Amino acid sequence: MKYVLLTGASGGLGVKLSKYLLNNNYHVIMLYNKNKEVIEELHAKYSNATMYQIDLTNDNEIDELVKYLYDYDINIDILINNAAIENTSSIDDKNKDTFFKVYELNTYVPFKLMKDIKYNTCINISSENAIDTYDEVTVEYDLSKVSLNMLGKIFKMKYPNRIYNTICFGWLDTKMNSYLDEDIKKEIDFVPMDKAVREIVKLFDKQEDKEVIIRK
Ligand SMILES: NC(=O)c1ccc[n+]([C@@H]2O[C@H](COP(=O)([O-])OP(=O)(O)OC[C@H]3O[C@@H](n4cnc5c(N)ncnc54)[C@H](OP(=O)(O)O)[C@@H]3O)[C@@H](O)[C@H]2O)c1
Repeated sequence: MKYVLLTGASGGLGVKLSKYLLNNNYHVIMLYNKNKEVIEELHAKYSNATMYQIDLTNDNEIDELVKYLYDYDINIDILINNAAIENTSSIDDKNKDTFFKVYELNTYVPFKLMKDIKYNTCINISSENAIDTYDEVTVEYDLSKVSLNMLGKIFKMKYPNRIYNTICFGWLDTKMNSYLDEDIKKEIDFVPMDKAVREIVKLFDKQEDKEVIIRK
């Protein structure tokens, strides 16, 4: 059975992906921060699920996670960097703090996990905002995802025998977009969640490094 370490397992995409993987014979170590309820439900239902609470912005907690994997002799086949936040203030309200907060979770945390954990394949969940879709209200997020896209390329130089994939999604209908009015949401071409999950899983067995863009 392959072991998957999934950050942000309790989020919109994370829950759907966890369910798919748990139903398809993967062991999923589901990392969550505050949203315990949904993770507890999955943990109760599937014997191949592990739940693990962590604030990924706390380095000590990541160090404990690394020790936990080592102590229990758990080898990670696939690391999925999925947890992320965004800040949707107007550009005039953005400052060093808003930049660092978003960068911390979206770029630094994947970096630390990619550096400190042993895995065969790494999948970084990115955004079309890192490629060709721009918005001043998400400038920190957009830049954090550009940096995330670079991380895979840089790590490939250090670990040429590992596989690095980056998947850049268009809009996903999750709580990340809960700030949007319902009327605006009706106009958005969301990527269907089952398609998003399928496209991530497609990358698992391909022994090649890829950067893909997935839109509706
Ligand atoms: N939504 C979109 O339109 C969209 C589009 C393109 C790409 N993406 C990318 O898709 C991925 C999944 O996003 P989503 O839409 O599913 O987001 P989401 O529903 O907002 O979920 C965010 C996840 O990140 C976790 N998280 C937040 N802060 C954390 C912290 N300090 N420590 C540990 N975990 C933390 C949350 O955990 P708790 O809930 O347990 O606190 C949650 O599981 C992200 O990388 C996002 O950038 C999203």
